[in-house]
Amino acid sequence: MFNADYKKRRQALQTKLQGGIIIFPGNNEAPCNYPDNAYKFRQDSSFLYFFGINRPGMTGVIDLDSSEEYLFGDDVTMDDIIWMGPQPSVKDMAASIGVDNSGSTQDLKTLVTTAARQRRQIHYLPPYRHDTMFALEEMLGIPAAELKAKASLPLIKAVVDLRSVKEPCEIEEIERACDIGYEMHTTAMRLCKPGVKEQYIAGVLDGIAASYGSMTSFATILSQNGETLHNHYHGNILQTGKLMLTDAGAETVNNYCSDFTRTVPVGGRFTSRQKDVYNIVVACHDHAIDFARPGQTWKEVHINVCKVLAQGLKDLGLMKGNVDDAVAAGAHALFMPHGLGHMMGLDVHDMEGLGQVYVGYDEETRPSEQFGLASLRMGRRLQEGFVITDEPGCYFIPALIDKWRAENKFTDFLNYDIIDTYKDFGGIRLEDDVLITATGSRFLGKKHIPLTVEEVENIMNE
Ligand code: GLY
Ligand code: MN
Repeated sequence: MFNADYKKRRQALQTKLQGGIIIFPGNNEAPCNYPDNAYKFRQDSSFLYFFGINRPGMTGVIDLDSSEEYLFGDDVTMDDIIWMGPQPSVKDMAASIGVDNSGSTQDLKTLVTTAARQRRQIHYLPPYRHDTMFALEEMLGIPAAELKAKASLPLIKAVVDLRSVKEPCEIEEIERACDIGYEMHTTAMRLCKPGVKEQYIAGVLDGIAASYGSMTSFATILSQNGETLHNHYHGNILQTGKLMLTDAGAETVNNYCSDFTRTVPVGGRFTSRQKDVYNIVVACHDHAIDFARPGQTWKEVHINVCKVLAQGLKDLGLMKGNVDDAVAAGAHALFMPHGLGHMMGLDVHDMEGLGQVYVGYDEETRPSEQFGLASLRMGRRLQEGFVITDEPGCYFIPALIDKWRAENKFTDFLNYDIIDTYKDFGGIRLEDDVLITATGSRFLGKKHIPLTVEEVENIMNE
């Protein structure tokens, strides 16, 4: 049972802003190849957070001067009822979330154009769908191309503040998404046999997510070429000796997400070379959870994890020199060119559409431009109630190795002759979802997906 208090959230939002009106456009159906053949509907996450109505064509408005709240949308016609069945009225939907006022799309236009004519401040979040941009352009008179830049920074910051700290009902819902993720990943491990096509396993995982009533939280990444970070090509036949990387998660029917990655040996047994690198990534993964606690910046956790990676690779002979210096210079990013993790909630990369710099950074913790660290989506100080992913990796990307070698890059820290022998290795990533608690952190999900070499080999050989 999901029991979010939408009215309380809207009231909390009102206390953070000064005056004017706020518009929260919900999403519309998104046509696939013609209007009546749409992609699965996905509501806008901020609209869901404050208004909770999971239907296309709705808009929420809050008048900050009068404190009146509105839900707008068009009631269904008889034609709609014939094809789609009966639907609740907009008035009833408004009442179900404690909103006193409701109206049609035309009423919305009248309210917003009047506010615009009166030069009242109109707050809206950066739009990311073109139909929403067209609607805002028409109502506000701001060209679609300028809408994103003119979005309300006070609203962005207020929404980020509220959505960053998860309520107990949200944490429960994320745990439900994690439980679906557990089923997806343990199924992938059992199916990972030589001769099986990647697409078959990816399709089964997507089906598991769908069987719970919603869908995956992002397009499933599943490949024996795991060195490509977001590999959506699933056309390979699995071969003994390769590692299969699966990065996949589910959404619940209330649209909260999970996001897990596991990397397993095709056929069920790691080679000793695979084990060596795998155990370094396990150490990185465990180090993050040991370090993550309120008050700690995630950027520091990321940097500490990179030192664990660099030390492990030095012990294997792939890196050399002083580990702290190597990480400060960014040499380790040859092997881990991405960040340690991101916020997660209603979006798998939570609130990314509002601007990563506002979600993951603040006045104190600024984003970096260094290769690798620049891809860290979340850097700022952790607070109790944040949900974040812990996803270190180690990849051997032949094109990047060749480029850096040709440029003589970081030759004080990288043993290219040895690294070259790993060009057929692929990549490893291990990802869990973490809740920041009052005193530390804990993994989310009732059951922990097999992680250690022993746990993975056991489930693959059951
Ligand atoms: N799991 C996909 C990502 O974090 O980008
Ligand atoms: Mn992730």
